[in-house]
Amino acid sequence: MKKYLVIGNPIKHSLSPQLHNYWIKNNNINAVYEKKQFSSGDLQNLILLIKQKKIEGANITVPFKREIISYLDQLSYESSKTQSVNTVYLSNEKVVGHNTDIDGFELAVKDINYDVKNKKILILGAGGVVPSIIFALNKMKAKNILVTNRTISKARELKRLFPDVSIIEWGKTPEFDMIINATSLGLNDKDHINIDFSLNRNKFFYDVIYNPKETKFLRDAKKLGNTIENGRKMFIFQAAAAFEIWHGIKPKTNSEVNRLLD
Ligand code: ATR
Repeated sequence: MKKYLVIGNPIKHSLSPQLHNYWIKNNNINAVYEKKQFSSGDLQNLILLIKQKKIEGANITVPFKREIISYLDQLSYESSKTQSVNTVYLSNEKVVGHNTDIDGFELAVKDINYDVKNKKILILGAGGVVPSIIFALNKMKAKNILVTNRTISKARELKRLFPDVSIIEWGKTPEFDMIINATSLGLNDKDHINIDFSLNRNKFFYDVIYNPKETKFLRDAKKLGNTIENGRKMFIFQAAAAFEIWHGIKPKTNSEVNRLLD
């Protein structure tokens, strides 16, 4: 039986096994997908297990998406540009890293028929997933991308990867067409983002968080009449892209799959 893993720290709450094991069963594949909590010291061993074909592939999540890179033999163009890897597999005896978060975000935004082209996008946060979001937004031809983060040095690091982004001081609210919460604020229902968005009406508010389904950020935006979307579709599409790399099959991403995560 082939074995796949998602590794991260913490990993308890990961819903990746639900999706992958559903698709594995659905496609009659003899495999299992498990979650495992890792520390930095375990990364090298993971690569060894993949080389020995004891593990066929792995998803990498917070906080190892960047750290894993130094252990890999090869990077896809996308993971090299974002310095972020969420999917690892063996190809011609080489351990390759790829980034399916980019596809995940792009497909999620397209699935809800939002056209990013020529739009002004404000991103809150500068953590692990933000380079993938910026890469996807550039691919979809956003007009400009503004980043604001509590710790400004992290926003400046992002600007080294993507020189065209503008950095905004945390707490300021420029005008935008679409705003993306990529901070961890909202995971806890009491979390409040201390920024005044109320002057931006009829905009698109996107939250990378999908559990809870509606963060305070999205609830407040909805009350003011804005369009809202959570990160669930992004999560499903990034998983589907990883599944396709490993198994060569495009899995279902319909409403039935969506309900698996309720
Ligand atoms: P990592 O930074 O390890 O990649 P992440 O969960 O991807 O982790 O990112 C967390 C994001 O949420 C960061 O942008 C973080 O801001 P800092 O860089 O200043 O830490 C943001 N964040 C977390 N708690 C926050 C808070 N209380 N106020 C504002 N931003 C917060």
